[in-house]
Amino acid sequence: MLLKLIYLVLHCTTIALANYTDFFTYDLKYAEDERRLNSCHGLLETYSAASANFTGCLVLNAKPISVCRKCEQQRSNALQVYIIIQDECDDVLLNADRLQVIETVDANNEKLWSSANCQNCFNATSHELTTDCKEFFILINQTQECFLRYNVTAEESNKACEKCNGTYKKLKAHYKSLSEEYKLVNLCMDVIDAMNMTRKTWNEFKCSRIDNNVLVVFTVVAFLCFSPPVFYLSNWINSDDVKTRLAPR
Ligand SMILES: *[C@@H]1O[C@H](CO)[C@@H](O)[C@H](O)[C@H]1NC(C)=O
Ligand SMILES: *[C@@H]1O[C@H](CO)[C@@H](O)[C@H](O)[C@H]1NC(C)=O
Ligand SMILES: *[C@@H]1O[C@H](CO)[C@@H](O)[C@H](O)[C@H]1NC(C)=O
Ligand SMILES: *[C@@H]1O[C@H](CO)[C@@H](O)[C@H](O)[C@H]1NC(C)=O
Ligand SMILES: *[C@@H]1O[C@H](CO)[C@@H](O)[C@H](O)[C@H]1NC(C)=O
Ligand SMILES: *[C@@H]1O[C@H](CO)[C@@H](O)[C@H](O)[C@H]1NC(C)=O
Ligand SMILES: *[C@@H]1O[C@H](CO)[C@@H](O)[C@H](O)[C@H]1NC(C)=O
Repeated sequence: MLLKLIYLVLHCTTIALANYTDFFTYDLKYAEDERRLNSCHGLLETYSAASANFTGCLVLNAKPISVCRKCEQQRSNALQVYIIIQDECDDVLLNADRLQVIETVDANNEKLWSSANCQNCFNATSHELTTDCKEFFILINQTQECFLRYNVTAEESNKACEKCNGTYKKLKAHYKSLSEEYKLVNLCMDVIDAMNMTRKTWNEFKCSRIDNNVLVVFTVVAFLCFSPPVFYLSNWINSDDVKTRLAPR
């Protein structure tokens, strides 16, 4: 009887103790999570600001497209904070729920950046534009500055054709070499858009009127138009009737 009682008391104590330690470790873990969540929350604030900076920059530089040139710093800032979150707060902030807000924001940022091929305009090591792209934007600037000096009225545009053809030709050649180097699909969007706009302005001046190709087409057409009369004329001259008439008697 006594033995049974002692046994029971011991049993209960063990269970209570087990529950207590369980509770205690749970409490510790909870406190630890709480502490990490607090410190990670600071990172969230930084990431929120960095990501908002980047988004704002993208929107402000959407047209004419200059997102690669203007937002590289912001993108890099946002990415850096995200990487810290991945390293330090992976379990409390990332992969912690189904919604995955932070992961989605980061994925969208990176998707936009890479679909504009911005990485191809930048030197991977130095956050600087590549030499090729830098050169291209200098030429774009020179060409556009030249265009700005003239109106698209007939008289003015002749002057623009004459004065700007040099830089425009250089620009076109450089663009061609860039598109061959990167393939057109990989060319950074800032470059494509700047070229597109510049080409459009150039076309408005209608300089291509005296393009060599046009000259060739014109010559061919002229030749085709004049050849039938020449043919008939030569036939007529060679005809017996004329020969007899022109022949010395
Ligand atoms: C120990 O905890 C369990 C549930 O976790 C509970 O059902 C049981 O009553 C507890 N035992 C004691 C002795 O507190
Ligand atoms: C966001 O942009 C502002 C102003 O451009 C700057 O002061 C701030 O440091 C940026 N924040 C982050 C986290 O990059
Ligand atoms: C990138 O930057 C480094 C150091 O500034 C330079 O040596 C290298 O030529 C650059 N690469 C390109 C592709 O511009
Ligand atoms: C060309 O570059 C200069 C100096 O960076 C700048 O002030 C000017 O606005 C640019 N011109 C055009 C048409 O973008
Ligand atoms: C373009 O034309 C407008 C009027 O048609 C004139 O006021 C302006 O000064 C001209 N600009 C240039 C650069 O010639
Ligand atoms: C630009 O046009 C002018 C006049 O049409 C011409 O004299 C000049 O050689 C051209 N320049 C270039 C680089 O083609
Ligand atoms: C160039 O601009 C025109 C409109 O001006 C647009 O329809 C076309 O898609 C653009 N091309 C590229 C390659 O962006």
